[in-house]
Amino acid sequence: MSAIPDKNAGEIHIRGGVRLQGKVKIQGSKNAALPILAATILTEGENCLKDCPKISDVYRMLRLLQSLGGHVRWEGDGVCVSTGSITTRDMPADAITGMRSSLCLLGALLARCGSIVMEYPGGCVIGERPIDLHLQALKQMGVRFHEEDGRICGQAPEGLSGADISLALPSVGATENIVLAAVTAKGRTRVRGAAREPEVEALCRYLNACGARIDGVGSSELEIQGVERLHGVSYRIPTDRIVAGTYLYAALGTRGCVLLEQAPCGHMQAVIRMAERMGALCQETGEGLYVQSLGELLSPALIRTGVYPGFPTDMQSVALAVATMAAGETRIEERIFENRFRVAEPLRRMGADIRQTDSGSLWVKGGCRLHGERVEACELRGGAALVVAGLMAEGETQITGCEFIERGYENICKDLRELGARIYSV
Ligand code: EPZ
Repeated sequence: MSAIPDKNAGEIHIRGGVRLQGKVKIQGSKNAALPILAATILTEGENCLKDCPKISDVYRMLRLLQSLGGHVRWEGDGVCVSTGSITTRDMPADAITGMRSSLCLLGALLARCGSIVMEYPGGCVIGERPIDLHLQALKQMGVRFHEEDGRICGQAPEGLSGADISLALPSVGATENIVLAAVTAKGRTRVRGAAREPEVEALCRYLNACGARIDGVGSSELEIQGVERLHGVSYRIPTDRIVAGTYLYAALGTRGCVLLEQAPCGHMQAVIRMAERMGALCQETGEGLYVQSLGELLSPALIRTGVYPGFPTDMQSVALAVATMAAGETRIEERIFENRFRVAEPLRRMGADIRQTDSGSLWVKGGCRLHGERVEACELRGGAALVVAGLMAEGETQITGCEFIERGYENICKDLRELGARIYSV
C-alpha cells in the first residue's frame, strides 16, 4: 500500500435490527494524531507514532508533510515521520489550500520555518470556524500577518518569543497552535483559559517526551519554557474517545452487549454517564469498557454539549440518533458549534420526531420506530449518527457521502460487522 492511498468513497448499506454483540478494538485518536503529526515538524530525527489511525484526515496531513519535504512510511501499526528537510520557502499549492483543514500546522511551521502562507480557512457545514484566537495569540508571540492575493501570510523573522496569553474561549485548535509555537520559542509562555480536551493533553505529553518543558498538562493553565531543540520519539497515539463513544451508543441503541477494547474510559466519563441515564450498564475493565443495554431505552431529558470534561460536541449527533427511539422527550443543546443539527433532517426522513425550538435547541419526541431510507452524510459526526440510526432502523438504510465518515473512522463497517451488524461498503 502506498503511504497515502486515495480515498475510496462509496456508499454504506445497513440492514438494521441486529443487537450488537462481541468485542471491538478502538482505533487511535484522529484529534490527537493530527496535532502530533504537525508537531513532528519541530523535532530532529525520526518519530514513530504507534496506533496512528489510517483515516483520510491523517493521509491528508501526511501528504502535506511530504509536500513540504517530510518523509513518511507506515511501519506495522504505526507511521514513521522525518521532517529534517521541511521548508516553507516555496510552499506548494496543496500545502497552502490543505492548511485550512490542518490548521495545527500553523504554529509548528511558524516555529520551525518562521513563515507560512495559507488560504483563509472558510467555514464548514458545522460552523463558521473562525481563527481569530489563533492569530491574536501568535501575534503576541511575534508573528506578523498580512493578506496577499486572498491568502494569509505570516512572518516571524526574529523567531517567536514567549508571551502571556489569555484565551477568551478554550479553543482546542488555538491552544494547540500556541503550544506548538511556544515549545521552542525564546522565553516562557503562559496560557490562561487553555482547552483541557484529552487531545491537547496527548499533544503536550508527546512534546514533553521530545524534550519540551510544558507544565500544567491537562489543566486550563499551561506554562511553557521554550527549549533549543526537540528530538524525535516513539509514541503511542491514545485511542479515540469519540469512536469509542460512537460504538458505545450503537450498542445501547441496538440493545446489545459489547466490549470496547482499550477504550479511553478515563476521558469518557460524561459520555458514559449519559449512556447510563439512557439505559446502559457500563463497566470499566482492564481490557476497556464493557457496555450492556438493560433493555429499555430511556430519554436522558437533556443533552447539553460543553468543553471538556462536559458532554463532547462530537458525540451530540450520535446521541441524538439514539434519543429518537428512547422512551420520553429529550432536549438537545449544542453549545460549541452554531450549526451542528444538520443530521436532524435525514433522521426525520427515517421516522424521527425532531423539532427545532425557538431557543435554538432541538426537541426530540422519542419512542419512534426508525425505518431504513437512502440518506446523505454531509459531515463527519452526522454521518456516524446516520450509521447508528441505520443499525437501529427496520429495513435497509443506504448512506451516501461516506468520504466524510472516512475522515474519522478507520473502518466503521468492518468494526461493526465484527459485532454482528449487517453493514457493508458498496
Ligand atoms: C477541535 O476543533 C476538533 N477538531 C473538533 O472535532 C471538535 O469538535 C472541537 O475541537 C471541539 O472539541 C480537531 O481537533 C481536528 P475549537 P477546533 O477551536 O479546534 C470557536 C471532529 O468531528 N472559535 O475548540 O476547530 C469555534 O467557532 C471535529 O473530529 C473561535 O471563535 O474547535 C467554535 O464555536 C469537528 N475563534 C468553538 O470556538 C477561534 O479562533 C470551539 O472551537 C477558534 C475557535
